[in-house]
Amino acid sequence: MRIDVVSIFPEYLAPLELSLIGKARQDGLLELNVLDLRDFTTDRHRTVDDTPYGGGAGMVMKPEPWAQALTSVAGPGAGAEKPVLIVPSPAGERFTQATAHELAGEDRLVFACGRYEGIDERVLEWAAEHFTVRPMSLGDYVLNGGEVAVLAMVEAIGRLLPGVVGNPESLVEESHSDGLLEYPVYTKPSSWRDRNVPAVLLSGNHGKIAQWRRHEQYRRTAERRPDLLEGFDAGALPRADRTAFADLGYDVVDGRLARRPADGGEPA
Ligand code: ADE
Repeated sequence: MRIDVVSIFPEYLAPLELSLIGKARQDGLLELNVLDLRDFTTDRHRTVDDTPYGGGAGMVMKPEPWAQALTSVAGPGAGAEKPVLIVPSPAGERFTQATAHELAGEDRLVFACGRYEGIDERVLEWAAEHFTVRPMSLGDYVLNGGEVAVLAMVEAIGRLLPGVVGNPESLVEESHSDGLLEYPVYTKPSSWRDRNVPAVLLSGNHGKIAQWRRHEQYRRTAERRPDLLEGFDAGALPRADRTAFADLGYDVVDGRLARRPADGGEPA
């Protein structure tokens, strides 16, 4: 995969030289280029922003440096598949593990890091001729710019590329891979500061361990992220799993989980 990142703070992307992503670059699994938007300005001050039409606070990123920068990375053009242009923004669609998987299947990604109040909207309209444009949000909060979001997205996508994570099994048993949060993990010593590792994990009974882990996933998800259970397919759950959900206050209705109301009435 090839990734290009355009930013006015290229140094912000330096951590992508470290750890698994840095190694993937060294191993040739990932080609990653960082471009400085100011290299595509033509004035002495290398200006990238200006005041907003219509008034209001802050500055807006000028369109022409973006058009120049994006043209320089757009690639062969006619005939070839358009690269995906990801524009980090709190006004974008939500970036999830499913998005990371989807984008890990692309040949080319380009990230456009906005700063200030954002990029002149016409850039995204124009870019649609050369790219599949996807404004993306990490979550419902506001960062100072796209760079931190790019660090997160490139790591989430990059680790899914074949060969990047040493043991691919670890990608299967992690939070969000099956729509649930991951179970808790423990290592030696088995007793630490008067706290014991759950006995089932020392039992050697792999069936019991798998069941305990699954039920811990249910418990955690119900406690911390009940919203994730709304889409959970409960149609084919074994009886022990239905009981685990019942203990957490959920019944299975038409293959879906339904939260039992606190007053003991009909499920919602
Ligand atoms: N830029 C500013 N805030 C952001 C967010 N929440 N997600 C992605 N990019 C952003």
